[in-house]
Amino acid sequence: MIIVFGWGRSQNSLDDFAVTLSESISLDQELYQEDIRGSLAHARMLYKINVLNADELKQIEVGLEKIRSQIERGKFKFDPKLEDIHTHIEMALIEICGDTGRRLHTARSRNDQIALDTHLYVISRSKLLAALILALCEALYKQAQSHLNTLLPGYTHLQVAQPIRLSHHLLAYFWAFSRDMERLKETAKRASRLPLGSGALAGLNYKVDRDFLANELGFASIYSNSMDAVSSRDHILDFVSTTAVIMSHASRLAEEIILWNSQEFSFLVLADNLTTGSSIMPQKKNPDLAELVRGKTGRVQANLQNILTNLKGLPMCYNRDLQEDRFPLLDSYKQTSLCLEAMAKMIAGIDFKSKRMRQALEKGYANATDLADALVQKKAIPFREAHHLVGRLVRLCVEKDLSLEEASLADRKAISPHFANEEFYKQSIDLEASVEKKLSYGGTSLSSQKKQIEEAALELQKWKTY
Ligand code: ARG
Repeated sequence: MIIVFGWGRSQNSLDDFAVTLSESISLDQELYQEDIRGSLAHARMLYKINVLNADELKQIEVGLEKIRSQIERGKFKFDPKLEDIHTHIEMALIEICGDTGRRLHTARSRNDQIALDTHLYVISRSKLLAALILALCEALYKQAQSHLNTLLPGYTHLQVAQPIRLSHHLLAYFWAFSRDMERLKETAKRASRLPLGSGALAGLNYKVDRDFLANELGFASIYSNSMDAVSSRDHILDFVSTTAVIMSHASRLAEEIILWNSQEFSFLVLADNLTTGSSIMPQKKNPDLAELVRGKTGRVQANLQNILTNLKGLPMCYNRDLQEDRFPLLDSYKQTSLCLEAMAKMIAGIDFKSKRMRQALEKGYANATDLADALVQKKAIPFREAHHLVGRLVRLCVEKDLSLEEASLADRKAISPHFANEEFYKQSIDLEASVEKKLSYGGTSLSSQKKQIEEAALELQKWKTY
């Protein structure tokens, strides 16, 4: 059994502080599946090129499966002295099958091994995140479907702007997340390039069969340049930047949940099992999960800065700095997946308060633009003048704490005789009529929204087969 660890020239064990500084096993034990998959493929390739015989291959396969099972049952001992996941698995294999185990590292370096593991990780985690986004999009879609006829204010500058349908607001997020699925798909596609078979940097003194390896591991292509293969962390940059974008979308939605859940807005009520109370204030129902999503966004976005800074100015080829890629990669996956799950559950469980939304709409003068447009279209008034007249009417209503609906005939006439006709005035400020006028593609009228719902259903269908 090997107790003291040191490769080649360096026979001594490291000082304790140096072990702590050097180890990556505390993080990359998460890569055990990928590492074992890579080793199995490598062993099969070594058999194919006659470096291993059938019996040796069998022993290695059985040994690696045994290690996998030990790890999964929590029976595997991780030791920071063994630095990383590759060394742990290799040492354990040697313990299981002696000299045969010592043959596995033929024609391979930890440099192409870690590159392989992280490529496999990026591919599989991109798919897992895409599945979570799909669930979130489905929740948004369902809520949108049942709120085609719920009207609320649309905001600009967080000021009431124009009436919209709630489906419109929810689908805006649906499309943002759907683009994130595209990003994940692209990330996985670009990561589908095999680095294994590059050796430490220069290539290998063996006739390694990289096509066989690519095929065995499901890669679409092979790195053309062994130096690029062991140096590139583009796959990690892609993944971490995609998760940063996903979190920027999630945090905007989280912020709206927090805002709408406030007493002042009261546009929604969150499911009880997703909120917390206060230890002192009995009336509180806090949107902690949404706040955590908003907070964790800072962390995930910082991970992108982390890896970008690590790579800046790094010379070819492998440098130990690269070991630090593990933190942003694994952390961004973990945090983003937790947050996506939380968002999907939150959205599915929200009880939207249509009545409150309606009140906010009436009090917020969201129909002011429609009234100005009506003056232009029906009374042939230049838009600037119409804008001015409606502005004066709104000011009067604000002073008297009235909605446009509540303004008296006398008040309206005092501003302009154009507001006198009851029929014209009522029709021009009618909220339903306002949304119905937004017939443009992508707009808030019922027909445009129904069309969008249909398109969203097709989009979901497309991603389900991804
Ligand atoms: N623990 C290293 C890492 O994770 C493995 C590669 C080590 N290569 C080396 N030449 N020291 O990056």
